Amino acid sequence: MPGFFDGTNCMRVTVFGVGYVGLIQGAVLADVGHHVMCVDVDAAKVQSLQQGRIPIYEPGLEALVRQNQTTGRLEFTADAAAGVQHASIQIIAVGTPPAEDGAADLQHVMAVAETIGQHMDSAKIVVTKSTVPVGTADGIAARLTDVLERRNRTDLTFDVASNPEFLKEGSALADCMRPDRIILGTGNRKTEEVLRELYAPFNRNHDIVIVMDARSAELTKYAANGMLATKISFMNEMAGLAELLGADIEMVRHGIGSDPRIGYQFIYPGAGYGGSCFPKDVRALIRSADEVGFDAEIIKAVESRNRRQKTTLFAKIQKHFAGQLHGRTLAVWGLSFKPNTDDMREAPSRVLMEALWAAGARVQAFDPQAMPEARRIYGERPELMLCESKEAALAGADALVIVTEWSAFRAPDFDVVRQALKQPVIFDGRNMYEPARMRASGFTYYSVGRRA
Ligand SMILES: NC(=O)c1ccc[n+]([C@@H]2O[C@H](COP(=O)([O-])OP(=O)(O)OC[C@H]3O[C@@H](n4cnc5c(N)ncnc54)[C@H](O)[C@@H]3O)[C@@H](O)[C@H]2O)c1
Repeated sequence: MPGFFDGTNCMRVTVFGVGYVGLIQGAVLADVGHHVMCVDVDAAKVQSLQQGRIPIYEPGLEALVRQNQTTGRLEFTADAAAGVQHASIQIIAVGTPPAEDGAADLQHVMAVAETIGQHMDSAKIVVTKSTVPVGTADGIAARLTDVLERRNRTDLTFDVASNPEFLKEGSALADCMRPDRIILGTGNRKTEEVLRELYAPFNRNHDIVIVMDARSAELTKYAANGMLATKISFMNEMAGLAELLGADIEMVRHGIGSDPRIGYQFIYPGAGYGGSCFPKDVRALIRSADEVGFDAEIIKAVESRNRRQKTTLFAKIQKHFAGQLHGRTLAVWGLSFKPNTDDMREAPSRVLMEALWAAGARVQAFDPQAMPEARRIYGERPELMLCESKEAALAGADALVIVTEWSAFRAPDFDVVRQALKQPVIFDGRNMYEPARMRASGFTYYSVGRRA
């Protein structure tokens, strides 16, 4: 496969966007021996990466990046032309944030397509790893054709493939090194062959590559996230019902999860899903359906249940304090949208804290990793004190609220918690503790889908 290898027989790859996906995939691809150049428009981010400073928290990532930078297989640049020239495989991993109407905003994806078109001087395989609506591969191809026509370089050939990413923040390295499946959305045999070669190091035990057309690959990613979000919202709905009917959702979870057709994964009730993917992908799926005149009833209900779920902790707090929140202080444990990440995009903690502030309460918060991110989002403000430890967050607070199920919160010293709080009250958005034990320890304990 001439043009795809460098002089030392490793494949060359360029990755556009060094966010969670681009940085992690770039590092993992370099680690198996490929020569990866990561390009980003954020020059400050590129500079700090060049100096070995990692802008996000992901277990194991820092060491992996440093190790592969040292060998020269992983490079970072803000020079897009150099990135385009580096490799025949150009992976697009830039953000696709929600536009105002909920649709995926493709401006960054299209900007990369424009850049590749402007700088390419040999054949390219352009691969979208970003989560993009059905038809985007065709849109990228149209944009490339356009740019090449403007440049009078219609002699240059390219192919666009879809290769959606399924990594999970918090376990992203393992997910990339041992993926469940690798979806290749392409009808082009040559492209398939090249991408199979690229991913061969991850495809050793049994064949996990699934080849399909690009449109199906694009929809597969949305359908996967839509299904997972549906499981969560369904359980949150059952939790609400369980509270009113006097049932225990944890028993129900156990009871239904034992059915292998249902399974135990993703059926935990909680404070609502957040993060950079589920909320925006669910909304984008609704928009895609609207655009073709299809009423996506289930996925719309998933979205509205989740919005409501993010307000349930606040509603319980408000009810407990009989609406008198002005001047109160709440200790909040957990700010990231889930454990093992510092990502606070669409995190339930944000909805909670903003509702508390609007009601005149203060927050003393602690998170094992997301404190810098919280500072970046909210800055210094009197209604938010970012504390150095989970114990410090409790001092003099009216109650404790648990929003993220970090393992550091699993077994706190409840004597310390009781003594530090003004009142022994815990609002647990993740069902971390046993209600009977909490009662015996003298706490008023609210959780999800179980009677207070
Ligand atoms: N974060 C996840 O867990 C995850 C998992 C699977 C799929 N995805 C999808 O992958 C895509 C990227 O997500 P993310 O979380 O890594 O995003 P991110 O916001 O963390 O990072 C995106 C990066 O792209 C850069 N960028 C923007 N325009 C650029 C351009 N023209 N050229 C080069 N770089 C550019 C930004 O500066 C930023 O560093 C999204 O479509 C997302 O839905 C994310």
